[in-house]
Amino acid sequence: MRGIILSGGSGTRLKPLTKITSKQLLPIYNRPMIYYPLNTLIKAGIKEIMIIVAPERAGDYLNLLGSGKEFGVKFTYEIQDKPEGLAQAFIIAENFIDEEDVAMILGDNIFEDDFSKEIKNFTGGAKIFAKQVPDPERFGVVKFSRDMQAEKIVEKPTKFLSDYAVTGLYVYDNRVIKVAQEIKPSSRGELEITDVNNWYLEKGELKVAMVKGEWLDAGTFDSLLKAQLFARDKLSDKMVI
Ligand code: TTP
Repeated sequence: MRGIILSGGSGTRLKPLTKITSKQLLPIYNRPMIYYPLNTLIKAGIKEIMIIVAPERAGDYLNLLGSGKEFGVKFTYEIQDKPEGLAQAFIIAENFIDEEDVAMILGDNIFEDDFSKEIKNFTGGAKIFAKQVPDPERFGVVKFSRDMQAEKIVEKPTKFLSDYAVTGLYVYDNRVIKVAQEIKPSSRGELEITDVNNWYLEKGELKVAMVKGEWLDAGTFDSLLKAQLFARDKLSDKMVI
């Protein structure tokens, strides 16, 4: 299994904090934000990790994280020229993924759960992780049938469909490269991970697991503050890095 941390984007909602640095390098209590998703991948036993960053910030990531030796893993860096969608990561990482399966995590997502089992037991298809949230319109959501079978994934629904948000950890088999190459940009000009997920869902090969512990995406001032307090009170002593 290869790992990807997608850590580009523009961080416009956190301006002016993100005027001179990347969102995912901002402090979450006593560590840079990216340490938390990195910790999730390393804890799950992933040893080869690609970090995808925006061009202006590449040097800062290299200075902070280096080769990966310090963490017992190997880092590879790639640039995403423009934030053209989460699914673009699989096109950028095509050679890196090679013939393997891949787990991608977003650089601003902080999870309490340990996903080692889910990742080690992955046998193909796609696996995503959902969590009930009070503000589903901010996320892709999973619509479930009465017997809790996933029926479809909808990106940022304007009308209430479900309050199960798709969180920022995704595991796919090697076909994801082809799928990402074939989907078309959405009306907002992005290659949507939701389209990738629906491709697997339509084939009956998408599994949706529930996130049990806390999950935060630290992309707004309030969630950033919440993440800081959560990291201090609940996560700090569970970190392996
Ligand atoms: P978002 O929070 O949706 O976008 P953003 O980080 O640019 O912030 P804002 O909306 O405030 O401008 O992105 C979620 C995560 O995915 C975040 O870690 C950045 C990353 N990302 C990329 O690296 N490339 C992309 O093309 C997109 C859309 C997001």
